[in-house]
Amino acid sequence: MSRTLWVVSDLHVTWSANRKRVERLHPADPGDWLIVAGDVAEDIDVVVDTLATLRRRFSRVIFTPGNHELFAKRHDRFRGRERYRVLVELLRAVGVDTPEDPYPVFGGVTIAPLFTLYDYSFRDPGHTATQAMNAARTARAMLDDTLYIEPFVDVATWCQERVAYSRKRLEQIDGPTLLVNHWPLVVEPTHALRQPELALWCGATSTRDFATRYQAVAVIHGHLHMPRELIVEGIPHVDVSLGYPFEQRYQHPRAWPLPGLRIA
Ligand SMILES: [Fe+2]
Repeated sequence: MSRTLWVVSDLHVTWSANRKRVERLHPADPGDWLIVAGDVAEDIDVVVDTLATLRRRFSRVIFTPGNHELFAKRHDRFRGRERYRVLVELLRAVGVDTPEDPYPVFGGVTIAPLFTLYDYSFRDPGHTATQAMNAARTARAMLDDTLYIEPFVDVATWCQERVAYSRKRLEQIDGPTLLVNHWPLVVEPTHALRQPELALWCGATSTRDFATRYQAVAVIHGHLHMPRELIVEGIPHVDVSLGYPFEQRYQHPRAWPLPGLRIA
């Protein structure tokens, strides 16, 4: 019997149509694994419950958070870095792999869930980050991260630390990898954004060499809600977002979830 590693992202289960799709998400074989590349929901309890349910169905569930898991309000108990730490602990307790755990290996491929955030470097090289941010504000092209994440943590500094941490761990790996991140690792997927200013919140230029340097068979990401595969420097970068129900209406029907890897 062959085993499959399925890949999904941006489940946004707060939307009932998406919650119903996730309720129908089952492995083809009991030995199948599942990757969830962030944006399950905003509420930590909902994120943990959803992933715990999936973990009872799939033999292994590998998760990396997206921006929506970090969304918090001033009165919330956990915000910023603390929110991430708490989420990791709760997910470990229900048997879900996080970016803080040893990287699992599927059919000889090391699965590396990263969490490298963004640092506003996906911008016109002629602009400083502040100029680019002002242009985004003028164009009314900003993500809610400015309201629900950035008041509680310096994301650019955290991003820099996460890139260094990830690089250190990736350097230890021998052989092929499957890199998993909520945000794209290269800028090209953001070129299709209808509002180009939004790219500021979509990744960091410092991860550009990850795929080639760490022998990625593919990069799995979400965040853009534009499901497709883009080949960059010979390596597939695959947006596996489910996205919001109103977006799905305008997308070409496709198989979901996608198989990321298969072993006989
Ligand atoms: Fe999303």
